[in-house]
Amino acid sequence: MVEERIVKIQSRALELIHGANSPEDLERVRLDTLGRKGKLAEISKEMGKLAPEERARAGKLLNAAKQAIEEAIEGRKAQSGEAALRARLDAEWIDLTLPAPGPRAGSLHPITQIQMELEDLFTSLGFMVLDGPEAETEYHNFDALNIPAEHPARDTQDTFWLTDGNLLRTHTSPGQVRGMERFRPPLRMVAPGRVFRNESVDASHEHTFYQLEGMMIDRDVSVAHLLYFMKTLLREIFHRDVTVRLRPGFFPFVEPGFELDIQCFICGGTGCAVCKHSGWVELLPCGLVNPNVLRISGIDPDTWNGFAFGLGLTRLVMMRYGIDDIRLLQSGDLRFLQQF
Ligand code: PHE
Repeated sequence: MVEERIVKIQSRALELIHGANSPEDLERVRLDTLGRKGKLAEISKEMGKLAPEERARAGKLLNAAKQAIEEAIEGRKAQSGEAALRARLDAEWIDLTLPAPGPRAGSLHPITQIQMELEDLFTSLGFMVLDGPEAETEYHNFDALNIPAEHPARDTQDTFWLTDGNLLRTHTSPGQVRGMERFRPPLRMVAPGRVFRNESVDASHEHTFYQLEGMMIDRDVSVAHLLYFMKTLLREIFHRDVTVRLRPGFFPFVEPGFELDIQCFICGGTGCAVCKHSGWVELLPCGLVNPNVLRISGIDPDTWNGFAFGLGLTRLVMMRYGIDDIRLLQSGDLRFLQQF
């Protein structure tokens, strides 16, 4: 039956069109059904043999089938074109109204932050901020500070000697000497910086750490002046009352000399690795400048005297932020640094 065959060809063609995945698939269906040698063309050729009535019905059906298939092909083409466009737009989507992410902001190292705060504080108190070399002369690091070659105080500050006879400074105290050489009294100065010692490294010792040296030379400077500045400094940094104790301490460049300790913030005074299980942390060695030190730098100790201190910047940072391992500070670990 011709009519039956037309219906079958049509439904098979629509099925194929529906399942087509590419323009090539569609073209194949078109040639196969609507083409000059296609299935429907074949049927057209047979039409002549049909009885007039049947021919009229079959003709209508044939035209309807052609139209349906053509429309289906066009529809599918439009559909896949749209789908392809939509997929492309999705993939290339960008919202130009969003703010740009921008570069990731860095932050200052906690030691730098505290150093800057202290520089501001001491500047406001009339102190100059001085800098000095990290590779120092033996004279500035030791001799001019009343520590002659055979003095046992040198043993407690073992350091790294350079082949030219200089050394990596063991403390910021050479800053005192350089300050006295450059400026005449009255003199108020601080000298922050990096210092080095030949230490075996553990939770509370580093071969490289930071100090802030301070020195004031004037007439009739007393321990009371020293304590005033030390207390002001601690209050400014910790924003709270800090429990301190003063012990006698020996440093050849001060007389009398003190160790100003603060109660350990990490353990609250009960003892931990940072405070070496004593409950106290040595933070601020200080004292009145030894007259020999003034004399060596050409300042008359009968007219002038002063105080000096060497604040442990690294320790101060550890206390302020509750850091229990000194090695973290120079680890370069961003997970650590991004907290500040
Ligand atoms: N320079 C000493 C040290 O590093 C500390 C200190 C500085 C002591 C100034 C007294 C006065 O150990």
